[in-house]
Amino acid sequence: MRVAVVGSGPSGIYAADALVSQEETPVEVDIIDRLPVPFGLVRYGVAPDHVSIRSVRDTLNKVLQKPGVRFRGNVTVGTDVSPAELLDHYDAVILTYGASSDRQLGIPGEDLDGSVAATDFVAWYCGHPDADRERFERLVPSATSAVVVGVGNVAVDVTRVLAKTVGELEHTDMPQHVLDTFARSGITDVYLVGRRGPAQATFTTKELKELGELAEADILVSIEDATLDERSAETAASERAVGRNVDVIQKWAQRSPTGKPRRIHVRFLTRPIELRGEGRVSSVIVERTRLNDTGGVEGTGETEEISADLVVRSVGYRGTALEGLPFDDRANVIPHVDGRVQQEGVAVPGFYVAGWIKRGPSGIIGTNKKDAVATVASLLEDAQSGRLPAPTSGEGLESLLAKRGVQVVTTSGWDAIDAAEKALGASQGRDRTTIHDRADLIAAAAGGA
Ligand SMILES: Cc1cc2nc3c(=O)[nH]c(=O)nc-3n(C[C@H](O)[C@H](O)[C@H](O)COP(=O)(O)OP(=O)(O)OC[C@H]3O[C@@H](n4cnc5c(N)ncnc54)[C@H](O)[C@@H]3O)c2cc1C
Ligand SMILES: NC(=O)c1ccc[n+]([C@@H]2O[C@H](COP(=O)([O-])OP(=O)(O)OC[C@H]3O[C@@H](n4cnc5c(N)ncnc54)[C@H](OP(=O)(O)O)[C@@H]3O)[C@@H](O)[C@H]2O)c1
Repeated sequence: MRVAVVGSGPSGIYAADALVSQEETPVEVDIIDRLPVPFGLVRYGVAPDHVSIRSVRDTLNKVLQKPGVRFRGNVTVGTDVSPAELLDHYDAVILTYGASSDRQLGIPGEDLDGSVAATDFVAWYCGHPDADRERFERLVPSATSAVVVGVGNVAVDVTRVLAKTVGELEHTDMPQHVLDTFARSGITDVYLVGRRGPAQATFTTKELKELGELAEADILVSIEDATLDERSAETAASERAVGRNVDVIQKWAQRSPTGKPRRIHVRFLTRPIELRGEGRVSSVIVERTRLNDTGGVEGTGETEEISADLVVRSVGYRGTALEGLPFDDRANVIPHVDGRVQQEGVAVPGFYVAGWIKRGPSGIIGTNKKDAVATVASLLEDAQSGRLPAPTSGEGLESLLAKRGVQVVTTSGWDAIDAAEKALGASQGRDRTTIHDRADLIAAAAGGA
């Protein structure tokens, strides 16, 4: 059996591993990615200063090197080849293409220069080939105050990276131009703004705590923001993870600033209602909120203006549709039952889904393993009971892509990029330096393709 996996993030790689690790049905897997490099958000999301988490790449890379698994990068499904064409060439297709778009706040001024999505900012500092380098090289050095909207782990990453000194970042694999830009950063104040309270925030304690341990940034929380209402206090008492977060925040509220040159201001029960500025954002109007009975918030009408020339909305990622495949426009996921893609309640033969495009944009790397394994179990059950459509094309996918002029990056091409990034890193005294430019990646791959 031959299976195409669309996306080489954790869910795609875990799915491939589950397929080749069983013996009942021999399987060959091609992992196709629109980028010349694998690993999805593990490469272009996980914060570069979280070196140990990023090292999960080594584990994922071992799967790419397994017999029966091939990487096919620089191939965009939907543009270079349609999902239906893929199914002509394989017995089954597993869609694991993630959720890479951003969500909007829907408030006036959101389109001003200096107002950016965390998806774009994170992609830039991780060296994503599609990142707008010019934009951040202009915005970061000219900013003095940043507002980060949202209190999930991505918002915490963004706040930490903005508040760190370049000395705290230079051991990472960030591209050199990103480090050079952070070295010129003028940002002294970062506001982390959550519309609900400390007991409702979605960040995790380990990540949160790091914000209070930075070399050159004090952390500031008011007693008022750290104080819980009765219901939140009950939640904090009964849910350990919440209790731990609240504990950290309440300890911060007792701290006095030590005079460090940068400050992180953590604000709860505060939501942005307007971004103001002439051309570029210069301030954010925020409104005080209160928790309502349904777990949401309502405005109190009490407003404040925070000076900010960079506003990063970190309010979640969003999945998008792939032409020709069913899509749930409300949840922004591909509808499925047990990983089998469904169109109006009926299974679409041959198509399966795993990861963020199946569940939505939440969950850590490990969450995708169980999810991918469950999808693969459905696929194998269908294979064993003869429910997969037979491939119709005698020609290999390679020759179709070659006819279309697609320059495929193979596993050995990726190995060559990997070696080139390590060599570049070594020349700069680091373990690795990310090559950000697509043409440079493809040139590096050509050494091994
Ligand atoms: C900023 C950020 C930081 C994070 N940090 C952590 C962390 O520290 N620890 C942790 O455990 N989890 C972290 N996570 C969560 C973790 O990254 C996700 O759970 C995981 O990456 C989701 O895996 P996925 O395979 O579903 O999607 P992705 O990782 O997004 O992979 C999708 C892949 O599909 C490819 N693709 C997209 N469209 C196409 C197409 N049309 N054709 C071909 N290929 C396509 C993409 O290029 C990508 O390689 C973080 C998430 C974010 C957003
Ligand atoms: N180190 C790590 O382990 C790590 C690092 C990064 C990411 N991740 C994981 O990746 C996943 C995605 O993380 P994420 O931070 O993008 O998502 P998230 O945890 O869902 O956080 C989104 C944040 O945006 C807020 N928000 C949404 N809409 C808003 C609006 N209109 N106005 C104001 N605030 C709004 C949410 O507040 P409400 O709750 O009020 O809606 C929430 O605080 C998570 O599962 C996360 O744990 C893990």
